[in-house]
Amino acid sequence: MSQKHQPVFITFEGGEGAGKSTQIKRISAYLKERNILHTLTREPGGTALAEKIRDLLVKGKADSMDPTTEYLLFSAARRHHIERVIKPALAKGEWVLCDRFYDSSYVYQGLSPKKERALNLDFMDRVYTEIAGEGFKPDLTFIFDIDPEIGLTRAGKRSKLDASTPEENRFESKGLAFHNRIRQGFLRVQANNPDRCSLVDATGTPDQVFHHIRMVLEDSFI
Ligand code: TYD
Repeated sequence: MSQKHQPVFITFEGGEGAGKSTQIKRISAYLKERNILHTLTREPGGTALAEKIRDLLVKGKADSMDPTTEYLLFSAARRHHIERVIKPALAKGEWVLCDRFYDSSYVYQGLSPKKERALNLDFMDRVYTEIAGEGFKPDLTFIFDIDPEIGLTRAGKRSKLDASTPEENRFESKGLAFHNRIRQGFLRVQANNPDRCSLVDATGTPDQVFHHIRMVLEDSFI
């Protein structure tokens, strides 16, 4: 298959239950119909080594690591992923679709955690720009925006948060506040990077959301 389009690196960001994975599958099918070779990948993960780091990061107790250690593990996994998967695929002329990338670190580790765990944003940028990514950036980022109450319901997590004991109610309000901060964090990323980031209203039906994405891709790259 020959590749007539320039390779493009696209990332997908947003809170839980926004429908990123459904849309990534649809875009993949759409690119396939057009004979556009592409690689699907995700963070944290995307290589065997980075998937092992993912296990350390996403399993186990929340707050079991200090925030800098956690961010350095995300960064190590990201560097390996960029060097071993993303850059080689782009060099072969393939598009790369990545479920989460650096913006997730910026939001989850920088902008949105509890104050005592929030990392300094300049430190984060320096680690990414000077070490992990060396200036490498996505060509396009879709930011999926949804009210967390709807997103968590979709993700099937809302019922757990709705449990009725007082502790669990406390957890609910903490949970929702956290997810709201994540949402605001991604809106800030979009506002700070309007040329790279396209905001997607993820409350629409899958067809509506895909229509928006297709228009952006066709305007910019196809
Ligand atoms: P995942 O199940 O892939 O999340 P989702 O299905 O919502 O995309 O889990 C990844 C989790 O890791 C998610 O909660 C976001 C978080 N994360 C960070 O905190 N920092 C990062 O840099 C990345 C890439 C993910």
